Amino acid sequence: MTRLQDKVVLVTGAATGIGAAVAERFAAEGAVVVATDVDELGGKTVVERITVAGGRAEFHVQDVVSEDRWRELADQVRATHGRIDVLVNNAGIYIIAPLAETTVEDWNRLMAVNVTGTFLGMKHVVPGMAETGGGAVLNLSSIAGLVGVAGHTLYGASKGAVRTMSKDVAAEYAAANVRVNSVHPTYVKTAMADYGAQTLGTTVDELGPALSPLGRLAGVADVANLLTFLASDEAEYITGSEYNLDGGGSTLLSVG
Ligand SMILES: NC(=O)c1ccc[n+]([C@@H]2O[C@H](COP(=O)([O-])OP(=O)(O)OC[C@H]3O[C@@H](n4cnc5c(N)ncnc54)[C@H](O)[C@@H]3O)[C@@H](O)[C@H]2O)c1
Repeated sequence: MTRLQDKVVLVTGAATGIGAAVAERFAAEGAVVVATDVDELGGKTVVERITVAGGRAEFHVQDVVSEDRWRELADQVRATHGRIDVLVNNAGIYIIAPLAETTVEDWNRLMAVNVTGTFLGMKHVVPGMAETGGGAVLNLSSIAGLVGVAGHTLYGASKGAVRTMSKDVAAEYAAANVRVNSVHPTYVKTAMADYGAQTLGTTVDELGPALSPLGRLAGVADVANLLTFLASDEAEYITGSEYNLDGGGSTLLSVG
């Protein structure tokens, strides 16, 4: 498996869940993985697993909300590895709340991580990609960035912003061969989905058939499969696109 051979990849939120799975899969595909997270113990554990499996990875503590840290880290990775080929803006938080109970404090906290974090990642990594001949950016949005979901005014707004920012940067940097695409899962089996199911008064097992005609939720491997393709040169003609990863749930009618 060498679909990402020698590509230098920066994955945010890589200590657990989707980010950890993507970091491990990318390393298995031959990439040099720079994993970052606020969770140092979790991040180092993921890097240890990659190294033991024979992959190449390093961990850096990073809060994606800090512009100083983005500037410092992007410079450091370029100084060490010469370039950044792939950026996965994966770090994110999730809050479900009725509109009338959504607080400005929660609004600002979630927007800072999901929107400002993604914006800063692109701001500090994409120009360097352009200078080194191009690259790929993969932004984790959500099905909530495409369709309306009760209780998701805040989260949906953040993921809608991720969707449109992806297209704006794709348009601005297409001539420099930087591709930017967004990915839109429904629930993926991680701690985030557990929180969602609990808040909605159900379980992840019950959510599978409710959300997808395929009868199950996505696993982290389903996300890693799509991201591997989008990060690879096989996707060299794909930019400004949005990928539903919802088992058909938002596009197929369950009748007949
Ligand atoms: N799991 C799902 O059901 C689902 C569905 C759609 C979209 N997504 C999106 O996928 C991404 C990953 O989700 P997940 O399910 O793996 O979540 P998760 O909660 O399992 O993991 C998120 C990771 O991000 C890190 N993180 C949080 N705030 C950070 C910050 N300020 N700086 C750096 N790291 C930070 C956490 O420490 C954690 O390691 C998120 O952007 C999420 O919105 C998830």
